Amino acid sequence: MVKQTKEKAKLWGGRFSQSASEILEEYNASITFDYRLYQEDIQGSLAHVKMLAKQAVISEREAESISEALIQVREEISKNPKEWASERISDEDIHMAVERRLIEIIGETAKKLHTARSRNDQVVTDLRLWMKKEVAELENLLLDLRKAFTDRAEQDLDVLAPGYTHLQQAQAISLGHFWLAHESRFSRDLERLQDALKRIDVNPLGSGALAGSTFNLDRDFTTKKLGFNKTSKNSLDAVSDRDFVIEYEFVISMIMLHLSQFAEEMIVWNSQEFSFIEISDAYATGSSMMPQKKNPDIPELLRGKAGRVIGVLNALMITVKGLSLTYNKDLQEDKEQLFMASDTVKKSLTIAIDFLKNIKANKEKMYHALTNSFVNATDAAEYLVKKDLPFRDAYTAVGQAVAYAIENSRYLHDLSLDEWKKFSELFTEDIITVLKIENCVDARDIYGATARTQVKARVDELKQILNK
Ligand code: ARG
Repeated sequence: MVKQTKEKAKLWGGRFSQSASEILEEYNASITFDYRLYQEDIQGSLAHVKMLAKQAVISEREAESISEALIQVREEISKNPKEWASERISDEDIHMAVERRLIEIIGETAKKLHTARSRNDQVVTDLRLWMKKEVAELENLLLDLRKAFTDRAEQDLDVLAPGYTHLQQAQAISLGHFWLAHESRFSRDLERLQDALKRIDVNPLGSGALAGSTFNLDRDFTTKKLGFNKTSKNSLDAVSDRDFVIEYEFVISMIMLHLSQFAEEMIVWNSQEFSFIEISDAYATGSSMMPQKKNPDIPELLRGKAGRVIGVLNALMITVKGLSLTYNKDLQEDKEQLFMASDTVKKSLTIAIDFLKNIKANKEKMYHALTNSFVNATDAAEYLVKKDLPFRDAYTAVGQAVAYAIENSRYLHDLSLDEWKKFSELFTEDIITVLKIENCVDARDIYGATARTQVKARVDELKQILNK
């Protein structure tokens, strides 16, 4: 690398306040973000030296001295990791910075730490350990969100709302059923996360730079010591594989996508036109110009931030798509965005949980929407089918009734029995009861449907599952 002194840079510079060498150093370095791996880096090193001593590659005494110093360095960094890192840009990354500090503390012995190891296997070991912690945190957040939806479903079981297709009023549902639809999405996200964990939970340590090691390393020892579930099977693959990062980013993209869809619906429902819900003041802000405004900023950001997380997934897939085996420096690009995306999804979930708990459902407004709609048209058709009219004929008869009602500025539940009889002789007095909104909801009484008994049963089942 060509080194330019600051002095020289000034001569031809002017435009840049930094010398070329400083810009290069900064460009090449990852310590400004990978310092976040310091705990995992030291954890990995502690396991590595213990294994080296066990295999008589270094002495027990050397291992002990290195381990003590590693713990001291961890103490030092923990006081202010970001600041510690900011003073060590010239060390390039957290791995080099820790090693150099170790040499400062114990001298020659520290130089043995990196025996039979490369930063290539070291960095993915650190990253996998770090991601395992993130997965555990995300699992808890997803469980909390699912609990919050379940609680809402129980609370809003008797709130009836229009269900939509094409954002057109379709059929009546229990609001509880609606909340549990969102719960279902996040339950799949949790499954996906748990599945991705299988491929994160693999120990690459011992793969060296790419080809393994001439030393007789006990790789299963570090696997056990670090709490990994498996040992990687191919050293070339182990140092270059970032599939597990991509998969994780896909899972968190799905979580953000689901949060975004939920947020969008709440934004629409909170609008003056719908007024189905009111969001708590804490989640809204005023306009700097229009005094009447209460804008749903927080759900808008839940929706907006999905963009950056999905972007990170795309970015990494594009970064790796042209890479040859094995390690290439391009791979350093994985971490900064992963950290940002993981922070974003954790914050978003935390906010969504609280946001959901504080939504005020406007039961009257929803009911009003239902009674000023044709959401019970299917019920009228199915009524005829139960009297043995083929469905297509029933559909046509009720279609005519709908047209008649619209013409006369009425709804189906306003029609008298005499009026119904114009469309089919099969209608009798009980059609009036069948078309009552509550009955339309409760008549859909099969597994997975919206009848309140069904929703309640699912709530009970979820409470069992989630409170374990
Ligand atoms: N900072 C590097 C990264 O994040 C660590 C591995 C560097 N290995 C190397 N051979 N340059 O990917």
